[in-house]
Amino acid sequence: MLLRVFSFVTYLHVTLCFVQEMTFYTEPDYGGNAFRFRTKEPDLTAYWPIWVEVKSWCGNGYWTGFSRADYTDVRTLNGYSPDGVTSCINASLPSTRSLRFLGPLETTTPSVSIYGGSSYDPAGGTERIFTNLAANSFGFVPTYMTLTGRSN
Ligand SMILES: *[C@@H]1O[C@H](CO)[C@@H](O)[C@H](O)[C@H]1NC(C)=O
Repeated sequence: MLLRVFSFVTYLHVTLCFVQEMTFYTEPDYGGNAFRFRTKEPDLTAYWPIWVEVKSWCGNGYWTGFSRADYTDVRTLNGYSPDGVTSCINASLPSTRSLRFLGPLETTTPSVSIYGGSSYDPAGGTERIFTNLAANSFGFVPTYMTLTGRSN
């Protein structure tokens, strides 16, 4: 039953310590002005004037963007580079009101993160990150799970 409920994203290939980050540039090929996120951003409204200028971006880790604030509604952005190698593309940014990486900032931190997502996106909504050995009574039925740090 639980296996049907959870989908798993694992960082079992991680060999380097790295910080999850996304950098956005105002010109193609990572030129022009840039701004970098290393934080979870439940409301990107303040960034919109520069957000629409973005023409390329680079990321580390597993990032998800959503069309509404607080990580709700449909996913607008996927930045997936779980092995510490920075992944870059030439692209403008879709309309996005919130943005976060999954789990803890440092991917070597042993952790289990669970999500109270929606039918739009199981990895959206509330995120609870656990670094201790056991947890229960989350207050919601998890729809998604992320493991980091080779936790046993
Ligand atoms: C990114 O865009 C620039 C300018 O259009 C182009 O010269 C370059 O080849 C592109 N890079 C990649 C990796 O597609």
